[in-house]
Amino acid sequence: MIHIMNPESENLKGCLITMEKLEQLYEGKAKKVFATADPDLVIVSYKDDATALDGKKRGTIVGKGVINNKMSNFMMQKLEKVGVPTHFVEQLSDRETVVKKVSIVPLEVIIRNIAAGSFSKRYGVEEGTDLKISTIEFSYKNDDLHDPLINDYHAIALGLATPEEIEQIKEYAFKVNDMMKEYLLGLGIILVDFKLEFGKTSDGTLVLADEISPDTCRFWDVKTHAHLDKDLFRRDLGGAEEAYQEVMRRLMGE
Ligand code: TMP
Repeated sequence: MIHIMNPESENLKGCLITMEKLEQLYEGKAKKVFATADPDLVIVSYKDDATALDGKKRGTIVGKGVINNKMSNFMMQKLEKVGVPTHFVEQLSDRETVVKKVSIVPLEVIIRNIAAGSFSKRYGVEEGTDLKISTIEFSYKNDDLHDPLINDYHAIALGLATPEEIEQIKEYAFKVNDMMKEYLLGLGIILVDFKLEFGKTSDGTLVLADEISPDTCRFWDVKTHAHLDKDLFRRDLGGAEEAYQEVMRRLMGE
């Protein structure tokens, strides 16, 4: 049982509350989500499980859950300071964090600075090619359909998001890119690309949700261009544990 100050919940403002995990609401590929006594808050618990290729490839990256939890929380707190609202409320432990309960907008929002991965394959451009502008794209979050690429019009037509939400998501996503790109470069890390997810709180506010971690970003060492992210697992290159630790060390000195 962990006591925290809950700064968000109106009716509990300023009160010391007891934040306890209640029933499990959901188990995803990399995280579990638990209810709390506050209907507007949930607890996420990060796992070491790693999947790729729509869950067909499975494995473990030892220590990943701890690193992804801490890195996400660290970045989200920085993002709040530059005007990007997030779901983050309070870290409870190495693997567990209280976050605002949201309904996820079913779009994977991908920003790219350098060609890699599916972009390189789709357009026949060598990985590592500088893009003349940073790009944004959306995938429809739907495992049965294998998360197909979708454009703004289709997302709005299908009722996945409103035009206003799409505009707000784009603004926030590029703000995330500006902040993270510069910050990580200072640590000798190139931010190649990354995926974000947004959600809506009970009062309809759009916030950055999910996670920001080596699972969801491509990080390359600035000098060697060595992968410091999940591509090591996706591509069976080895050394994922060490790479995640290295990102953590540069980020938080741990
Ligand atoms: P992609 O090049 O495979 O489309 O990936 C773009 C970025 O999105 C990359 O940083 C990894 C991240 N990503 C996820 O976080 N989840 C996914 O399921 C996929 C396919 C990519």
